[in-house]
This record gives sequence, structure tokens and C-alpha cells, in this order.
Amino acid sequence: PISGPVLGLEASCDETAAAILAPDGTVLAEAVRSQLAEHTPFGGVVPEIAARAHLAHLPALTRQVLQQAGLRPEQLGGIAATSGPGLIGGLIVGATFGKGMAIAHGLPFVAVNHLEGHALTARLPGLMEGGVAFPYLLLLLSGGHCQCVAVEGLGRYRRLGSTLDDAVGEAFDKSAKLMGLPWPGGPALEKLAETGNPKTFPLPRPMLGRPGCDFSFSGLKTAVAQSIPKLKTEQDRADLAASFQSVVAAVLADRAKNAIAMMEGPTAIVVAGGVAANKAVRASLALVAEKHALPLVAPPIRLCTDNAVMIAWAGIERLRAGLSDPLDHAPRPRWPL
Ligand code: KG4
Ligand code: ZN
Repeated sequence: PISGPVLGLEASCDETAAAILAPDGTVLAEAVRSQLAEHTPFGGVVPEIAARAHLAHLPALTRQVLQQAGLRPEQLGGIAATSGPGLIGGLIVGATFGKGMAIAHGLPFVAVNHLEGHALTARLPGLMEGGVAFPYLLLLLSGGHCQCVAVEGLGRYRRLGSTLDDAVGEAFDKSAKLMGLPWPGGPALEKLAETGNPKTFPLPRPMLGRPGCDFSFSGLKTAVAQSIPKLKTEQDRADLAASFQSVVAAVLADRAKNAIAMMEGPTAIVVAGGVAANKAVRASLALVAEKHALPLVAPPIRLCTDNAVMIAWAGIERLRAGLSDPLDHAPRPRWPL
């Protein structure tokens, strides 16, 4: 049994986040501080700047969520901090801060795998009645990760396929950059695609129709690069954006279809990661889900992108199972599920 609410801490990339969840999964408080402003001048995340920003902001965010939840630290039942995979500077900041609180207040510490956080979000009881039941298919679609995972139980994750080159969010970001859009490119490209005709540019559809559920996006990015000189008008740009987006949506749907066939009795298709915010991607995956009579579970966008609610929840699931970690647990920049 967990003795009180659990504090989750996330600092593995460019979002500093803290959240407090009751043992039953009720969100008592949550806060996210994006570092977009710090990294935008560089067109991407700068690890050293990220680590320093986490260090500067994590204490205040933690105070904020404690206050919001009306709790003193000693009333908590545990501390869960992202301990990998991710940028090592930020991981050290978040994990060490969490361990410090655990020591100071005599609380159990849970070193959470960031990917497990994404994987278990769908089980938050508030999301679907009672949360999604095992096993389910997880499509993790972010800037750093792109994989199909069979989530079979707590700690039982079977990777069915992953990208051979770029992650899908990376493909959005790189193609957007080629089109002259600001970083991060995903949302900007989606906006531009709204007025475009997706049938204009005949782009390759990598991996479509192949067995398995691996991904590949570098050829698509190259094709986008080769189309750039043909762009004359604003409409051309919108058409290219729409063509790119519809190819990605079609490829993801094809991969999801094969992933489902590799599982036994999945209860749902769950999407996570920043790209899950994309409406064309969601619509395409919704069709696959419908064909298989499965629900498509797309958490609200704030829970799809990096956040601390998912870290606190993964901590709760682990504490409930009697799992916690020693204070010398080392953060791991690479940590496959
Ligand atoms: O999960 P996330 O916030 O951070 C990690 O990468 O871990 O994902 C960010 C990625 C970026 O590549 C961003 O361009 C992409 O998600 N993204 C989108 C959209 N919103 C964010 N891609 C396509 N359409 C969107 N609406
Ligand atoms: Zn993430």
C-alpha cells in the first residue's frame, strides 16, 4: 500500500515538469515549464542549456505543485523521477533532486523509465473508465522515439518494431525546416497542410505494405528536399506539407495494422508522444482501430507530450507492485523498455 500521494518529476529533455497524484491516480496538481524559448534560437534542444534550465526551475515547480495540492513534502507517499532515457544532464538534475527529497523526508524513490511513463499513461483511471486493460498496442510517436510496443503488463513490454533511421517527429521537424518553417516543425507543418492538397506531390511511402512494423523516414525526407526547388507559390508549399503529412499518416496506419496482427487480443490502440497531437495521424489511426473494433485511446495532448503526470503514475504502478529503487540508482541516457 502507498502511504500518500506520489510526486512525479520529469527533466529528461526540454520540458521541466512536476505533478502530484493520489494513490488512486487522481491528479492533485501538475505543472510544466517548456524550454522552447531557450532552445528556439538554436533550432533544437541544446543539452547543456536544458540541464541548467531544469536546475533553475525544478525547485519552484515542485513547491508550486505541493502548494496546489495543499501538501507538505512529508505527507507524500513516494517520489518518482525520470531516470532515463534522455539527455544525461537533465536526468541527473531530476533524479538527484528526487533522491534528495526522498532522503530528507524518508520516502521511497522510484527511478522511472520515461518510455514506461508514456506506455502506462493510458491506464490512468481518469482517462477511460478504470483505465485501459493489458494487453494493448502502444504507438510511441515523438521527436526522439518511434516504436510499436505490445504493453502486456507492468514491466512487460515487447517492442514489435521501431524506426530504422529517423523518429517520426524528427521527420516532421526536418521536413518542416526544409520548407522554411520554424522549429519545432510538427505543429507548424500541420497548420500549413490545412490548406494544401495531399495528392499533389507523389512522395514515396516508406515501408508501406512490407511485413512487420518497423518505420523508415529518411527517404521521405530526401524526397521532400528534392521537391523544394519546385515550390513556386504559397499554395505549392501547403500542397507539399499536406502530401508529406498524408504519407506519414498512411505509413503509420499500415504499421499499426501489422502490429495488431502481431499481438494476441489487444484491448486498444494507444498513441503517445508529440506526433499523437496531429489530427491527420489520429484520423488515420482511428480508421485502423475501427476496422479491428478496438478503441483508439489518444490521451489529451498535455499527457501525450512530455509531462510529470505520467511519471508519477508509473511510480504509483511500480510502488503498488512493491517496486522501488535504491538511492544509488544511476540515470541512464540509453534505457530501452
Ligand atoms: O513527445 P514530444 O513532446 O517530445 C519528445 O520528442 O520526446 O514530441 C515532440 C515532437 C516534435 O518532433 C514535434 O514536431 C512533434 O512531436 N509534434 C508534432 C505535432 N505536435 C508536436 N508533429 C506533427 N503534428 C503535430 N501537431
Ligand atoms: Zn517523451
